[in-house]
Amino acid sequence: MSNKLKRVDIILSKYSVAPYQILKETIQRPKEDVIQELLDSGLKGRGGAGFPTGLKWKFAAAEQNEVKYVICNADEGEPGTFKDRKLLCEVPRKVISGMGICAWATGATKGYIYLRSEYKYLIPDLEKELEIFAEHSKEVGLNFPIEIFVGAGAYICGEETALIESMEGKRGEPRNKPPYPIQNGLHGKPTVVNNVETLASASMVCRYGAREYKRFGTNDQKGSKLFSVSGDSPNEGVYEIELGMNIANFVETYGDGDTKAVQIGGVAGFCIPRKRFDKTIIGEGNTTGASTMLFNSTRSMYRVLHNYLEFFEEESCGQCTPCRVGCQQLLKGIEAVKKGEKPAEYLDQLIELSRTMKLTSKCGLGQSVTNSFASIIINFREEMIY
Ligand SMILES: Cc1cc2nc3c(=O)[nH]c(=O)nc-3n(C[C@H](O)[C@H](O)[C@H](O)COP(=O)(O)O)c2cc1C
Ligand code: SF4
Repeated sequence: MSNKLKRVDIILSKYSVAPYQILKETIQRPKEDVIQELLDSGLKGRGGAGFPTGLKWKFAAAEQNEVKYVICNADEGEPGTFKDRKLLCEVPRKVISGMGICAWATGATKGYIYLRSEYKYLIPDLEKELEIFAEHSKEVGLNFPIEIFVGAGAYICGEETALIESMEGKRGEPRNKPPYPIQNGLHGKPTVVNNVETLASASMVCRYGAREYKRFGTNDQKGSKLFSVSGDSPNEGVYEIELGMNIANFVETYGDGDTKAVQIGGVAGFCIPRKRFDKTIIGEGNTTGASTMLFNSTRSMYRVLHNYLEFFEEESCGQCTPCRVGCQQLLKGIEAVKKGEKPAEYLDQLIELSRTMKLTSKCGLGQSVTNSFASIIINFREEMIY
């Protein structure tokens, strides 16, 4: 694999087999073989944290419990991300097949699609597809009913334990981990939470086999991935790309000829300046998030950072002090420097504060603020100053 950008058509391709054929064929195989296939494929979760999918399923399968759950995380709240919606609209069968295969491999008894509340309009079509799934799964003796649960409309409810809390009727606030959901998830039962794209990719691994799947990608990141492209781009949209391209190639294809920065992995990810475009390979050592926002030279990076911090301040659940107070202080701090009320050196203290938040916050929201914060301040310092 070179660093070139290569469009592929694995997850997004139209159906080429009979309904639920992949599910039916897969569940004829020994469960251990299927989990091993996923481990061999190198598939990592596409919800942002990048945990190996095969390992998650293996741990869930090892839990001894008569009741287990599979939750498809379709909360998709990361700003600039809209790829899960495309999968649910265009190839929901691949996602639902992935849930069925996961249920069979792990012994799960009930499934939920946790749907972002803004995607309610997808419910009628998804319900029709779930009826088709129910008929086909019954034919092969898989007893795995799937329900749709409409999300609570908060970014934090995409975090798997906050999501589970909200499904239990409580405030959507992250739990302490461990225990992890695979041990103690929904209603205290072992629960696999997987992103929409992870489940669709898992069913493609079962269709094509690990060897074929990992022909794509790099040593660290296997396969293909969907990217939601937005911002200053004449080609906004969702694209499936082989992992391993560098940002220079990405910008050449999706930029408007004047790109000065690319935010990869959404607001929880990193802001890459032009001078590092050819040195940065998306997904390696940075983030597996899908949101890629392009900014051209007309954009104020101060305004961009200000928007991010307003978002974090609004969406912090407030449960832990470093995140609740830290987000407010970072926002106030950059405003004070911009107005000349604080010297430019104050920005360095703010970076230190964001790094402390990474070490002391309870969940990924507070822990990831420093990614975009420090990368924007370091690379666009002159734009932050009065
Ligand atoms: C603040 C926050 C928001 C998140 N939002 C989502 C989301 O919308 N969709 C998603 O799949 N994962 C989201 N995650 C990651 C989940 O906690 C979890 O890692 C993921 O659903 C696991 O699935 P995967 O292994 O298939 O990636 C979020 C995490 C955090 C910290
Ligand atoms: S880090 Fe932020 S969002 Fe996460 S639990 Fe703490 S306050 Fe809530």
